[in-house]
This record gives sequence, C-alpha cells and structure tokens, in this order.
Amino acid sequence: MKILKKINMIISALLIGLILLHGVLVSFRFLGVGESSGLLFARTGFVLLAAHTVFGVILTIQTIHIEARGKGKLYLRANSVFWVKRLTGIAILCSLYFHFGMFGTTVDGKFELLPFTTIKLIDMLVLVISLLIHIGINIRSLLVSMGIFAPKRRRWDIVLVLSVILVFIAVSLILYYLSWCR
Ligand code: HEM
Ligand code: HEM
Repeated sequence: MKILKKINMIISALLIGLILLHGVLVSFRFLGVGESSGLLFARTGFVLLAAHTVFGVILTIQTIHIEARGKGKLYLRANSVFWVKRLTGIAILCSLYFHFGMFGTTVDGKFELLPFTTIKLIDMLVLVISLLIHIGINIRSLLVSMGIFAPKRRRWDIVLVLSVILVFIAVSLILYYLSWCR
C-alpha cells in the first residue's frame, strides 16, 4: 500500500502541474495572446490520469478491505472527505469524456473549429469546479505523502493560488463562449 501511495503521490503532483499548464496556455490562446494549447502537456497528463485513476480504484478497494477487516463488518466511516475525493474524481472523468474533440475536428486533413455551445461551456465549467474541489481537498494528503508539514493557513494559501488559476481559466472559457454567441 505504501509504495502505491508513493507512486500515486508523484503522479498526482505531476498531473496538477501538467493540467494547470495546459489550462493556462489554452486560456491565453482563447484571449488571443498565445498560439500553443500545451497539447504535449495535455496528452502526457492524460496518460498519467489513466494511471492515477487505476491507483485511485486500487487504493479505494484496499481501504474498504482494511475497514471491513478491522471492524468485522463493512463499516465505511462517516467520512465525507473520503467520498468527496472519489465523487469529484468521477465528475472529472465524466466531464473529460466530452472534452476530447470538443473544440475542433480534422476534415479532409484540414482542422475545423467547432461551435462552442452552452452545453460544452457547462461541461468545461463542471470540469474546472471538480478540479478545484478534488485538488483542494487532496492537497493535505499530498503534502503529507511528500513529507511536507504545512499548517492549515499555508494549505489555504495553496488553495487560494489554485482558485485564482482556475477562475482565470473559467473566465477565459466564458469569454470564448461569448465570442461564439455574436
Ligand atoms: C483545465 C481546463 C481545461 C481546458 C480549458 C482545456 C482546453 C482544451 C482545448 C481548447 C483543447 C483543444 C486544443 C487544440 O486542439 O489545439 C484541449 C485538448 C486536450 N485536452 Fe484539455 N483542457 C482542460 C483540461 C484538461 C484535462 C484535465 C485533461 C486531462 C488530462 C485534458 C486533456 C486534453 C487532451 C489530451 C487534449 C488533446 C486532445 C487531442 O489529442 O485532440 N484537458 N483542451
Ligand atoms: C487532472 C485530474 C486530477 C488531479 C490533478 C488529481 C489530483 C489528485 C491528488 C493531488 C491527490 C492526492 C494524492 C496523495 O494523497 O498523494 C489525488 C487523490 C485521489 N484521486 Fe485524483 N486527481 C485527478 C483526477 C482523478 C480522477 C479522474 C480520479 C478517478 C475517479 C481520481 C481519484 C482519486 C482518488 C480516489 C484519490 C485518493 C487516493 C487515496 O486514497 O490516497 N482523481 N488526486
């Protein structure tokens, strides 16, 4: 279990960096001040995300087994944090399902932009909000796994920086949506 947690810790930390880089680069492009979408970051992130999801499932099953053994019955502690971590992970997966091919498609070797509809905007905002809650709630255990002691105030500082980045991404998505409404 320990080695799994260690590998998952490294993957999760890299994943945060790659996804935020991809999101910020795309946002600059939406705002007309950048060219790149950080596709290499996005694709590497996708591979790491697949591994992170598998580890997440294994760690969940192991935790349930340990709980069941310890108490003699399947007692899942009334631990909302445990479930919020899983539910936000599932929300990320569901919203990402529609993410691929959402913005454009290649027709006869030519790239064509697809309209950014309201439903697509809602899907992307669900992704951004789920990312904020998932990373925000996991930051404590990530720091613990990394052996970093951070008091509550320091953790809130990290969540604040994360929120600013994700709000920036959300605003650029809304502006991109408005450009399609004209
Ligand atoms: C944080 C909010 C996000 C925004 C605003 C965003 C936006 C975009 C955009 C605009 C594209 C199309 C780029 C292009 O075709 O040039 C794209 C592609 C992509 N995104 Fe994201 N993305 C976000 C989060 C994510 C996440 C969490 C993942 C999962 C790891 C991800 C994985 C990908 C991948 C793999 C592609 C390339 C798909 C392909 O190969 O055609 N993105 N994203
Ligand atoms: C880009 C998207 C994601 C990012 C940046 C991310 C980030 C993180 C981080 C930083 C942790 C804490 C790791 C630690 O304690 O060492 C974590 C834990 C977790 N994540 Fe994600 N995650 C993402 C997507 C997902 C998805 C799609 C799932 C699948 C349902 C998922 C399920 C989990 C679970 C179950 C845990 C807790 C594992 C444990 O018990 O220790 N995550 N995530």
